[in-house]
Amino acid sequence: MAIVIIRQDNKIDSWKKALIAKAPDISVYSYLEEHPKEEITLACVWKQPVDALKQYPNLKCVASFGAGVDFIFKDKSVPEHIPITRVVDPVLASDMSEFVLALILSYFKNLNNYKIDQSKKVWQPREYKRISDTTVGIMGMGVLGEKLAEDLVKNRFNVIGWATSPKIIPGIEVYTGDNEKNTFLSRSNILICLLPLTKETTGILNNKLFKELPKQAYVINVARGGHLVDEDLLEYINNGHLAGAGLDVFHEEPLPFEHPFWTHPKIHITPHVASVSDIESVIPQLLENYRRLTEGLPLKYTVNREKGY
Ligand code: NAP
Ligand code: GLV
Repeated sequence: MAIVIIRQDNKIDSWKKALIAKAPDISVYSYLEEHPKEEITLACVWKQPVDALKQYPNLKCVASFGAGVDFIFKDKSVPEHIPITRVVDPVLASDMSEFVLALILSYFKNLNNYKIDQSKKVWQPREYKRISDTTVGIMGMGVLGEKLAEDLVKNRFNVIGWATSPKIIPGIEVYTGDNEKNTFLSRSNILICLLPLTKETTGILNNKLFKELPKQAYVINVARGGHLVDEDLLEYINNGHLAGAGLDVFHEEPLPFEHPFWTHPKIHITPHVASVSDIESVIPQLLENYRRLTEGLPLKYTVNREKGY
């Protein structure tokens, strides 16, 4: 039994080193080196190349290096019977919460505009927004959405949520399903997308949805680029209905050079950094699942294939 790491960025060595440091008894390979394919039982992946998982005849589990698993479901070479796990980690959740809070406050207090003014030596006071006047609507009240909601409440925001199933969270009204979606949207001065990317949620941030938001709402997408219909967002910002958007995720990453989001004055883009899996914090759960796999025990943090998250 052994672990293979498959990811196309420059982080393979750091993850491999850290896994081996914590579990010297386990064989861990990069998919880029020579390795015994038949020994691999656990593949830890982040945006793996298509068909990379086909070469492991004894694979027993595919583990996402992140909270999202959409890129695993997209890969039709992942065998149907194999469980898929994801990261559920308080550090990932608090990082996300800090990022969104920073983005909202930066928008409220015009900090980006002042940085641009500074570069031109322009002194130009602007009106600013207040927390107490704002209701933040969070689409997706899962591990990340719930943590964000709690932190926003601690910071005096009015917070509402939207999910598929009802939730009881003190101080937060959670709407569910399509029937309650428009009521939820009509109250959201700031709309935050923290949904998983599934068949149901692909393209959910579209002009039909934007129309239901209050005038001058601000949209933040920190989930996946596939949730957003880019042209619809541009239309609703350019026609003045939306005040702007903060986008951390895109259909294509890196965002193509010619994409209009790069230069739009009302769109704040960041390079998919809202919350990045922390090696030290995530490795124990990968290793625990590997040991559970070895001992035939139920795995932690498996996702539901039917639901896609
Ligand atoms: P999660 O725990 O699985 O929560 C997902 C939430 O979305 C749940 O509340 C779920 O409702 C709700 N939901 C799913 N489908 C829905 C639908 N069709 N209608 C309404 N609500 C729906 O996921 P998570 O750990 O919070 O992560 C969310 C996403 O964040 C990930 O999938 C990933 O794409 C993204 N992410 C981005 C970054 C970044 O750096 N930008 C970092 C980490 C994660 P129920 O509770 O009723 O099931
Ligand atoms: C990051 O995007 C994640 O899914 O963890």
